[in-house]
Amino acid sequence: MTGPGVNRRALIGSALALAACERRADAQTSPANLPTLRSVAPFPVGTCLQALQLDDPAFAALVAAQVSQLTPEWEMKMEYIVQDDGSLRFEGPDKIAAFARSAGIRLFGHTLVWYAQSPPAFERLDVSRIAFDAAYRNYILAVAGRYRGQVSGWDVVNEAVAEDGEGWRDSLWSRKLGALDHMVLAFQHAREADPDAVLFLNDYNLENIPKKRATFLKLAEALLKAGAPLGGLGTQTHVAADLAPGELSRTISDLASLGLPVHLSEMDVSITRSEGLIKDRTRLAAGQARVYAEAAEAFSSLPPSQRFAFTHWGLRDGDSWLKRENAADTPLLFDDQGRPKAAAAAWIGGLR
Ligand code: G3I
Repeated sequence: MTGPGVNRRALIGSALALAACERRADAQTSPANLPTLRSVAPFPVGTCLQALQLDDPAFAALVAAQVSQLTPEWEMKMEYIVQDDGSLRFEGPDKIAAFARSAGIRLFGHTLVWYAQSPPAFERLDVSRIAFDAAYRNYILAVAGRYRGQVSGWDVVNEAVAEDGEGWRDSLWSRKLGALDHMVLAFQHAREADPDAVLFLNDYNLENIPKKRATFLKLAEALLKAGAPLGGLGTQTHVAADLAPGELSRTISDLASLGLPVHLSEMDVSITRSEGLIKDRTRLAAGQARVYAEAAEAFSSLPPSQRFAFTHWGLRDGDSWLKRENAADTPLLFDDQGRPKAAAAAWIGGLR
């Protein structure tokens, strides 16, 4: 079901043909007359963004036209909000929230607790568990409470599973409040702050490392058993163009096995991360289109109640975090000028 007048098979076919000649990366290869992502997707479509990008009218217009959910790329994280003196700043997320409200787009909160970010203001709270516990709860209440009624959900705990899937990560939070308890507390505090938001456990590489996917699912079950108000599972889906066919479908199907809503939360498909294995850019562009089509098809095939949202980690290639790793990467659906690529046609063609 890809909306009126959109021939799915033709779209995928043209996408793959386009991808084969996308090497020239110019306007001529941009698929013509594509519908917007949000107009054809049978579920909310999102993108990440930074407050600063909203100063670009072309960017703001592209976002408002293409998506129905926004995830602040970094402004709702501790690294932005928590100042060295322990005070909190909200200009960035407030700007994004205001834009979302004006554009009639829902907001998604990312992320409350992450092993990768433990600001000095928390590190200093070595004094006692009581002080740390209070600061942890107050932070979550302040941030999740501020956007209550605006966000559809929160990534409450991000990337809790070890890189290789052998257990859970160690962090300031786990050391101070307990390996599982710090996560249960985070979900409970988030629920106290916002009674309606869907509360997610989010992680990455669930496609590439089956052991990590299994540990992630076991952690979700442990949280539910401990009484945490876990309401959804997020799979980031930062993948590469050489991802083996079927890996994405298996991952989405496994995540859906718990019966909770699934958020495909941060998708991008790197070209350059595959170059070690495939040198031919034409094949890589076709591989990227195939991966996007598989993701759209697999997510569309979930029961509607489990299709929380499908979020791309950016719209225009030039905005991608992956550019910091390799400026030649082109991982997203739109080119630097905001024109849809073959990958966009393939993603739309994959929708059911
Ligand atoms: O914009 C400020 C700039 O004004 C300042 O001078 C500079 C130095 O402090 O920081 C700049 O902000 C950077 C921000 O990206 C915007 O570019 C932050 O330092 C930098 O840490 C932040 O990186 C983000 C990263 O998460 C860490 O928060 C990336 O944009 C973002 O794409 C990345 O996203 C993560 C997800 O949250 C979790 N899953 C993996 C994904 C990719 O790493």
